[in-house]
Amino acid sequence: MLADKDRIFTNVYGFQPWNLEAAIKRGDWDNTKALLQLGPDVIIDRIKASGLRGRGGAGFPTGMKWSFMPKNPTPERPSFLVINADESEPGSCKDREIIRHDPHKLIEGALVAGFAMRARAAYIYIRGEYIREAETLFAAVAEAYAKGLVGKNACGSGYDFDVFVHRGAGAYICGEETAMLESLEGKKGQPRLKPPFPAGAGLYGCPTTVNNVESIAVAPTILRRGPEWFSSFGNENNKGTKLFQISGHVNRPCVVEEAMSISFRELIETHCGGIRGGWDNLLAVIPGGSSVPLVPAAQIMDAPMDFDGLKALGSGLGTAAIIVMDKSTDIVRAISRLSYFYKHESCGQCTPCREGTGWMWRVMERLRTGDADISEIDTLHQVTKQVEGHTICALGDAAAWPIQGLIRHFRPEIERRILEKRGGGLEPMMEAAE
Ligand SMILES: Cc1cc2nc3c(=O)[nH]c(=O)nc-3n(C[C@H](O)[C@H](O)[C@H](O)COP(=O)(O)O)c2cc1C
Ligand code: SF4
Repeated sequence: MLADKDRIFTNVYGFQPWNLEAAIKRGDWDNTKALLQLGPDVIIDRIKASGLRGRGGAGFPTGMKWSFMPKNPTPERPSFLVINADESEPGSCKDREIIRHDPHKLIEGALVAGFAMRARAAYIYIRGEYIREAETLFAAVAEAYAKGLVGKNACGSGYDFDVFVHRGAGAYICGEETAMLESLEGKKGQPRLKPPFPAGAGLYGCPTTVNNVESIAVAPTILRRGPEWFSSFGNENNKGTKLFQISGHVNRPCVVEEAMSISFRELIETHCGGIRGGWDNLLAVIPGGSSVPLVPAAQIMDAPMDFDGLKALGSGLGTAAIIVMDKSTDIVRAISRLSYFYKHESCGQCTPCREGTGWMWRVMERLRTGDADISEIDTLHQVTKQVEGHTICALGDAAAWPIQGLIRHFRPEIERRILEKRGGGLEPMMEAAE
């Protein structure tokens, strides 16, 4: 278990106040000026050395991303940092805890990261439904301005840096980085074609980096404690500590900071009081938020919870939103519900996603009720392959992958429903094929 002394988020449960006074006691804003005096290049090198990979889902190396920003931005074409607090992926709820209980970690991180990429300002784009969290964030930013921590001559460093908070209106697609930029510019939140990538032409056509809340909030602690400390946790290429969010059929669902690469079993036993009904009652797990394929019980139990370990199982760490399903779960219905979500959230720009998500959901519903032909399972799989990789943004992939995971691991259960529907009543749920 991760020792308390190694936790970055020491107020994730809100046992102490979120405000500046309490944050300073926890070690935030402790001589931030000295961190800035390291200079942009040293900060970026240290973040690279720490092995930090983006916590928003794709796991792109954070230091490398910052290094793509121009070294000499001009006043006419400034650089921007955009912080992604949209958190709409079903199962994800970690950024919310950071913002409502530890907002100064994020604001200090915004300054340090913004300085490293030579940005003029940070825009924090927060999910519209996070009403109380946005109130806390607005208040925390006001505290930071009042104390001169951000704004003109931030922390006495001679560097001017503004922080703006922008509330979204509740669309999942606005979490996609270029849709977020469109939305910030006051337009409909629809993803842009890439290239150009945001580091070349992002917000208002200026160089921009988009990072997840957690990626930014951990940066000051990494610099204070050193990259070696951060990279001492986790397996090769999967370093650091991480906020895991465990929901579903465990005895105690929670958000907890743990070492990357902890095994699923240890995570659940240590922090969630085990699986509801015991380990033999586990059916499957969606380990990274609704967009990644499920993993059946037998494969996940001793798997390392990290980017590469879960990729090897045909799934992914995503946002580390772990949805646990026991044998009482109607697995076809669960995945069909996710298909409905993606159909609802498609922005409609590209045909494979706009048409495909609705088509896939309708077939999933017929598989759920058993009113389908067995041959349609293969047709559905083919359609997921035609959507995957053929769209402007990754929402198309996110709609395809959960269905692919279901067919890969639970085909006998889908077939059983169809056969049972023809022959009469349904029998109890089968276990995973593999
Ligand atoms: C449909 C869709 C929704 C997304 N939603 C979020 C989100 O809510 N929060 C987030 O940080 N990243 C989200 N992302 C990923 C972002 O596009 C981007 O990769 C991320 O914010 C980069 O931050 P990181 O490098 O710190 O991980 C989403 C991507 C897609 C395709
Ligand atoms: S994949 Fe879907 S959500 Fe993404 S741009 Fe295309 S239609 Fe919009």
